[in-house]
Amino acid sequence: MIAKLKESEIYEFIYKNRYVFSPPFDQKVNLSQYTAKLAKFAVHFAIYNENEIIAFAASYLNDKNKELAYISFICVDSRFSGKGYGRNLLNEVIITASDRGFKKVQLEVDNRNKNALGLYYSLGFTDASESQTSKILSLNLQ
Ligand SMILES: CC(C)(COP(=O)(O)OP(=O)(O)OC[C@H]1O[C@@H](n2cnc3c(N)ncnc32)[C@H](O)[C@@H]1OP(=O)(O)O)[C@@H](O)C(=O)NCCC(=O)NCCS
Repeated sequence: MIAKLKESEIYEFIYKNRYVFSPPFDQKVNLSQYTAKLAKFAVHFAIYNENEIIAFAASYLNDKNKELAYISFICVDSRFSGKGYGRNLLNEVIITASDRGFKKVQLEVDNRNKNALGLYYSLGFTDASESQTSKILSLNLQ
């Protein structure tokens, strides 16, 4: 499920699913700038239903020292949530990072995002640091 998505496809998916995030994703970041960065520098992971993207993750796997793989984005279309797609996507990111020799995977998550936290902890992520609103979670790969 590694994919090479166009900037417009990434934009369309995130925009369509902006309300599954709280606050809506386009209120947290400048969506055009964010999407342009993901299109250019991130590795993309996508799950399709017919021709439509229903789950998408993006990870930066460009740290030269291979210390840290960073998952910038993961989201499952709410019509398809709770069916294991999020877990599959995340597993694929972890396997890819591990195959490429990375030592650690990290991501940031809102403290109140219980579904995402449940998923990350069940895959072995642990708290690396915490602010008032979010946590950095980390998973050692080797
Ligand atoms: C978080 C998210 C990616 C999970 O994807 P999903 O496909 O719905 O989740 P899965 O079906 O793969 O479930 C994986 C685990 O997530 C957790 N989870 C998912 N839905 C849940 C729910 N409604 N209530 C509680 N936990 C839930 C559980 O730990 C679950 O494990 P289980 O299957 O052993 O019960 C998805 O809900 C999503 O896109 N959320 C909005 C965007 C977001 O918050 N992204 C993460 C930002 S850091």
